[in-house]
Amino acid sequence: MQHFLTETDFSLEQAQEVFSLARTLKASRLNGPQPLNMQSWGLLFYKSSTRTRISFEVGVNELGGFPVVLNSSQTQINRGETIADSAKVMSRYLHGLVIRTFGHDIVEDFARHGSIPVVNGLTDFNHPCQLYTDLFTALERYSPDAVDIESLKGKKVAFFGDCASNMANSWIVSAAMFGMEIALAGPETFAPGQAVVDALNTAGLPVNYTFTTDPSEAAASADILYTDVWVSMGNEAEAADRIEQMMPYQVNRQRMAEANPDALFMHCLPAHAEEEVSREVLDNPQSIIFDQAENRLHVQKAILAKLVEINT
Ligand code: CP
Ligand code: NVA
Repeated sequence: MQHFLTETDFSLEQAQEVFSLARTLKASRLNGPQPLNMQSWGLLFYKSSTRTRISFEVGVNELGGFPVVLNSSQTQINRGETIADSAKVMSRYLHGLVIRTFGHDIVEDFARHGSIPVVNGLTDFNHPCQLYTDLFTALERYSPDAVDIESLKGKKVAFFGDCASNMANSWIVSAAMFGMEIALAGPETFAPGQAVVDALNTAGLPVNYTFTTDPSEAAASADILYTDVWVSMGNEAEAADRIEQMMPYQVNRQRMAEANPDALFMHCLPAHAEEEVSREVLDNPQSIIFDQAENRLHVQKAILAKLVEINT
């Protein structure tokens, strides 16, 4: 069974096919193929969501399937039913399952115990649907006539803030996979952790990111400046301390000026303006945040279609 729990679950060739399909699906949104015809896909959320929830619900529908949205707190999981039993039961009704949760082991356990494809809609460790969307959105700029993953090679991404977060981990793995340079800048206590090094080693990818506490060093000559909230879901108790420590890593006019003149500003959203990014940068023409948000729909439709194709 092919799942999509991490960026490297697809080969580079498959990733290219996903991006090309996303481009086709974007161009023919309401009269595209319906590979999920008569299928029902569960969308199981342990955490809040706006983009992931809506884009998957709409996307499953547009692919001809029926989305079953589940809040974990309203299922028997919340009352102690095991992941193993839940996965086996859900596999008897559903044709696939998208999960947003806390520990990455939860999506792995669903994949191991169930018999349907599992898609990672964000864990504490990573957010691969967002990353594939981010790469696709950058590729719309870098290779507008035909999406070509080769045009990512050598591009420099600068990531600011919580460099041990799910978004940072996903960027580190993706940069290694697609041949990009990545420099991360944040407080020493928020440097990338061992888990992402282990993920790179497991995937056979080079450990080639750099981490610095100097935001100007990371921004220098960057092609993409990326940031994410300083307080991820689950970290709320540390909010005040995190905000104080991360203030020097705000992406603002100065950071943009240090990067390449045509650098893109990207953010997975939701954003906290004047914390991780200034309002001025969010609203700047170099900011492509709403293209990213829209593209979640097209790219995830392509991911689901690819999984159905591979698993059939
Ligand atoms: N970027 C993202 O995953 O947004 P949501 O939390 O709104 O789903
Ligand atoms: N790092 C953020 C991403 C939200 C899409 C979080 O986990 O809350």
